[in-house]
Amino acid sequence: MQSSNTQFELIRQSATIAIADRILALKASGQNIIGLQVGDPDFSTPPAVVDAALKAMQDGLTHYGPSRGYLDLRTAVAKKLIRDEGITYDPASEILITHGGIHAYYLAMQSILNPGDDVLIPDPSWATHTNMAIMLRGNVIRVPAPAENGFIPFFESWEKALTPKTRVVVLNYPANPTGAYPTREYLQKLQDFAAEHNLWIISDEVYGSLYYEEKPTSAAAIRGAKKRTLIVNSLSKSYAMTGWRVGFLAGPAYIIENALKAGQNSITCVAPFIQKAATFALTDPAIQDVTANMRAAYARRRELVLLLSHELESEKVLVIPPQGAFYFFLDFRLLKMSSLEICERLLDEAGVGLVPGAAFGEEGEGFVRMTIAASDEDVEAGFRKIIEWAEKQ
Ligand SMILES: Cc1ncc(COP(=O)(O)O)c(C=O)c1O
Repeated sequence: MQSSNTQFELIRQSATIAIADRILALKASGQNIIGLQVGDPDFSTPPAVVDAALKAMQDGLTHYGPSRGYLDLRTAVAKKLIRDEGITYDPASEILITHGGIHAYYLAMQSILNPGDDVLIPDPSWATHTNMAIMLRGNVIRVPAPAENGFIPFFESWEKALTPKTRVVVLNYPANPTGAYPTREYLQKLQDFAAEHNLWIISDEVYGSLYYEEKPTSAAAIRGAKKRTLIVNSLSKSYAMTGWRVGFLAGPAYIIENALKAGQNSITCVAPFIQKAATFALTDPAIQDVTANMRAAYARRRELVLLLSHELESEKVLVIPPQGAFYFFLDFRLLKMSSLEICERLLDEAGVGLVPGAAFGEEGEGFVRMTIAASDEDVEAGFRKIIEWAEKQ
């Protein structure tokens, strides 16, 4: 009998998918569900970006394009990185255009990971970081990032997790699902640790422009860090372009060469008209105003939830203000129920769709992820229902 790639048996399909399917089924049956489970901006892609793609198609850019990405797009990315993060990258050799952030992460991992290497990933974190490492035959070691330390690992936890086989540290700040990010000093210490043990750092910065406190520092912006850090980023969250599938990887030229080979031999290139739309999005001044308005809306909804939580004075749910991204990671631990049960019951009894914290790792158990990438009305109504339900338990 034929056998399949057994590595995939190690990847658990998360409860999130089951819940998401149930939410869709309930909605389809006409039930009024407030969906606060998605990680997708509720804003439309700015129409001028859509026009830029249409124009590129009409101009004939409907064939293969350059696998590395058009130079004008790579130059736009390099300008963004110097402007926002203060890091200089050579657009000719240190930037690769990818099929979104997830593909940038895949190419980064492909380029540096050997089977059996240890990969250190904070817990809780986005499941794909772990699943991708497993797919590529890495050995994932989760590093607890407890709520009690602001969802950032205690430094000793990195040291404890280290083995002779450790090759990569995966960071994602601001984090999905917690919105947390560490100080520059913490990153400096982590970079020193990576240098001492000859580790790579992959820094997923897809939420990098969404922050509500002091601007987060890119892991690559630390002195001496650029040569051992790969930045993963995309236009998905920052420009409301999740469906376009366009992002980038930035790092040392010899790694970008590996990643280019992996990209060429898997997807060939990102569609040229999409690359042109991405260049327009990154460079047109009016688009930067549109995205600033989106950021202001997330900040307003975050404030709304914090004000409501003050007003409702929940005794059961602890509301931790997120530093960045567009999620609240609500602490339900006092209820002593599994996060899956909480989400199932909130869906059935209160009509609110959420993501169980356990989908992000053991440290997420007892927490529930609620998005603020939804209308002000849905965020307010959904949050009220959540708290009312919790108080009855
Ligand atoms: C932490 C993190 N990285 C990457 C992605 C995927 O981004 P993209 O749409 O750019 O592939 C997501 C999507 O939710 C995410 O939460």
